[in-house]
Amino acid sequence: MSRTLAGMTHQHTEHPEDYFTREFWDERYSGEQVWSGNPNPHLVTYAAQLPPGTALDFGSGEGADAIWLAEQGWQVTAIDISPVALEGVSVRAERLGLALTCRQADAFEWSADQTYDLVSAQFMHLPRPALTRLHQELAASVGPGGTLLIVGHHPDDVGHAPEGTTFDDIRFTGDEVASTLDPAEWATIDGLRLEREWIDRDGRPAVAVDAVLRAVRRG
Ligand SMILES: C[S@@+](CC[C@H](N)C(=O)[O-])C[C@H]1O[C@@H](n2cnc3c(N)ncnc32)[C@H](O)[C@@H]1O
Repeated sequence: MSRTLAGMTHQHTEHPEDYFTREFWDERYSGEQVWSGNPNPHLVTYAAQLPPGTALDFGSGEGADAIWLAEQGWQVTAIDISPVALEGVSVRAERLGLALTCRQADAFEWSADQTYDLVSAQFMHLPRPALTRLHQELAASVGPGGTLLIVGHHPDDVGHAPEGTTFDDIRFTGDEVASTLDPAEWATIDGLRLEREWIDRDGRPAVAVDAVLRAVRRG
């Protein structure tokens, strides 16, 4: 599948398609900490309402979500393209005495191979149509009664281009993802547009607009 994203510019690489490769992310995760270390707020909100079970965190990055879930008693599988990131997650989990499974996979090729009680993908950016395909595979990974939680940048989130990019293609709405789910298979399908306060890279308070899909598969 092509990784070219027409019209996309990127501050970190001359080749936007590199943004979705192992090499790009291994380098990114080889230096200083990239993300805040805090779990993503929508995940905390929704997962806190669920009894712990099995969970998949796809695009787990430095593992703040995976580790937070494991601390809440979930049996977590963290998947990312970057072995460097996954090694960091394993080391942190071990230090904290948490059992956590780390698996390296490329979202362009990955397919659902087991089911979980919670499937989460937070800011797992891909160009279309790979993003749509990934969302379908994530939905297929949700077991009976399980929850799907997909969070990304809403098209209205103009002030919050990931990594300083203009990745228009990676933006989606919760409703768009919701429209791909069959109500016969899902008891709840919520496509949401949620605003969230955050501190931007210059240390200034800002408001992000998140696209959120939360769905619960019928038991
Ligand atoms: C914006 S980060 C989000 C990380 C984490 N979910 C969080 O919210 O902090 C995107 C993540 O997607 C991963 N990624 C990028 N391209 C990928 C691909 N083709 N397959 C699997 N993971 C990929 C990166 O390694 C990175 O950790």
